[in-house]
Amino acid sequence: MVTAGGFLSFLVPALISGTQASVDYPPLPEDLTTPYQQRLAIYGPNAVSVGWNTYAAQNRSCVQYGSSPDSLKSQACSSQSSTYDTSRTYSHTVVLDDLTPATNYFYKIVSTNSSVEQFLSPRTPGDETPFNLSVVIDLGVYGADGFTVDSSKAKKDDIPSIEPDLNHTTIGRLAATVDDYDVVIHPGDFAYADDWYLRPKNLLHGEYAYQAILEQFYNQLVPISARKAYMASPGNHEASCQEIPYTTGTCPEGQHNFTDFMHRFSDTMPRAFLSNSINHTAQQLASKAHSLSNPTFWYSFKYGMAHIVMIDTETDFPDAPDGQDGSAGLDGGPSSSWTSSRPILPEAFEGLFYRYGVDLGVFGHVHNSQRFLPVVNGTADRKNMTDPKAPMYIVAGGAGNIEDLSSVRDKPSYTEFAYADDYSYSMLRVLNRTHLQVDFIRSSTGEILDSSTLYKSHSSPFVVQ
Ligand SMILES: *[C@@H]1O[C@H](CO)[C@@H](O)[C@H](O)[C@H]1NC(C)=O
Ligand SMILES: *[C@@H]1O[C@H](CO)[C@@H](O)[C@H](O)[C@H]1NC(C)=O
Ligand SMILES: *[C@@H]1O[C@H](CO)[C@@H](O)[C@H](O)[C@H]1NC(C)=O
Ligand SMILES: *[C@@H]1O[C@H](CO)[C@@H](O)[C@H](O)[C@H]1NC(C)=O
Ligand SMILES: *[C@@H]1O[C@H](CO)[C@@H](O)[C@H](O)[C@H]1NC(C)=O
Ligand SMILES: *[C@@H]1O[C@H](CO)[C@@H](O)[C@H](O)[C@H]1NC(C)=O
Ligand SMILES: *[C@@H]1O[C@H](CO)[C@@H](O)[C@H](O)[C@H]1NC(C)=O
Ligand SMILES: *[C@@H]1O[C@H](CO)[C@@H](O)[C@H](O)[C@H]1NC(C)=O
Ligand SMILES: *[C@@H]1O[C@H](CO)[C@@H](O)[C@H](O)[C@H]1NC(C)=O
Repeated sequence: MVTAGGFLSFLVPALISGTQASVDYPPLPEDLTTPYQQRLAIYGPNAVSVGWNTYAAQNRSCVQYGSSPDSLKSQACSSQSSTYDTSRTYSHTVVLDDLTPATNYFYKIVSTNSSVEQFLSPRTPGDETPFNLSVVIDLGVYGADGFTVDSSKAKKDDIPSIEPDLNHTTIGRLAATVDDYDVVIHPGDFAYADDWYLRPKNLLHGEYAYQAILEQFYNQLVPISARKAYMASPGNHEASCQEIPYTTGTCPEGQHNFTDFMHRFSDTMPRAFLSNSINHTAQQLASKAHSLSNPTFWYSFKYGMAHIVMIDTETDFPDAPDGQDGSAGLDGGPSSSWTSSRPILPEAFEGLFYRYGVDLGVFGHVHNSQRFLPVVNGTADRKNMTDPKAPMYIVAGGAGNIEDLSSVRDKPSYTEFAYADDYSYSMLRVLNRTHLQVDFIRSSTGEILDSSTLYKSHSSPFVVQ
């Protein structure tokens, strides 16, 4: 969300480059093959991608893996290593395929300075084992460049056992409870690197500060992203070096048009899965979705009983903020005002969600937690939570970031829960093929702030309403 603070700071010169000396870059390792910013993702029904960055280019990037930590018998490699202007690091991606479903694997990124980590391979689409899925949005970096920058606003983290980089309230909670969920979805707004100018120390070093925040943030995420499939899609804070209309054009090469995000995630996120249905039409449609998907922006994946579609709310639909002539100015059109309610979104998507029987819509951007009854066109579904036709919606944008929480201003009549007192995130518990439990968790304490269960009969496999 664009806060008032963000808009005022827009008067600050967009980008003044100086030396990198005073920016908080993480220290360079002696061993330049050391993997950083490790990230896993579900890449297919039997495949997991492993992404990481190093401070030197590598001709060959490999991952060894196997079902026991001291017997990593398989190896997968890639010969691509990518970087971009202003980045200090090189991205690598290796795909591990032919995995046995729902099995614990151990893996080691091949380096003279790396350790063995583990992950659970994806559950087969249709597997009816219950599982939990964490939702974080609007997360932000922790530390002097992040949400502790103004001590009057900062919500201090006091999780005692997480040291030393994990004092991010929400990252700390997710790390401490890493065995409680299988997958994380993070649909947008990651490091808030584009808010570098909110720290006075960074003002003369924008180009470097932007990169330093990205490096810090993706290192802080490692205890989660190197253990769990971390499914990413972009938000407005991934777009460019500044989110403010008119100034994005001044961002240097490498810091506009989602460049870092694409280098980091485009090769690690999946395409829509192919279908193994015997229904020929279903096969053809899945095949078309596979070819049309454009990870990390638009893609879908299946995990056990869930089919999850990641939608890019920035580009590629009529009047999208970062699309041609959009309000964010990425393609330099007339800048209309960019409101937090973003009325273009319902216009573009709500009808589709209803028509195809979406169970739950998950949104962020607004920095708090909210839950709504199943609703369509502003009217609550009269069946409430018991087999409604309309989708249920949540806002899960209270995970913590430099712009702070935003109070809940409008509460439409179908609001069931609204919370902005402390950082929080959501946990989706897929109980069985008809019941989905949606919880909100207070990051600092782990307490469940709100819990509700949606029942959908799912009487036919293809919904067209
Ligand atoms: C090895 O990696 C760790 C981070 O995992 C880093 O702190 C350390 O400096 C590295 N060692 C060398 C020799 O580069
Ligand atoms: C990578 O390949 C290039 C060209 O073949 C070679 O010059 C370079 O030494 C190699 N680098 C490493 C780290 O092996
Ligand atoms: C899901 O979370 C609940 C509550 O934390 C926990 O009791 C349960 O074991 C978790 N289920 C799985 C499959 O991880
Ligand atoms: C993290 O929190 C612990 C316990 O509250 C504290 O001792 C430590 O100094 C904190 N570390 C950082 C880097 O803030
Ligand atoms: C096959 O799938 C299509 C949609 O993908 C659906 O409309 C049709 O009813 C299905 N046919 C059968 C026999 O299930
Ligand atoms: C942004 O990147 C996309 C995909 O690489 C490209 O199609 C588009 O032309 C770029 N837009 C600008 C303004 O650079
Ligand atoms: C919602 O409104 C649109 C536009 O007015 C209309 O086409 C659609 O039928 C409505 N949907 C429902 C379920 O009422
Ligand atoms: C909808 O159902 C929930 C429980 O599932 C209940 O708390 C709430 O009062 C109901 N709301 C309406 C408007 O019926
Ligand atoms: C699904 O889970 C709900 C909530 O725990 C339970 O009430 C229901 O009986 C379960 N349904 C089946 C078919 O197991």
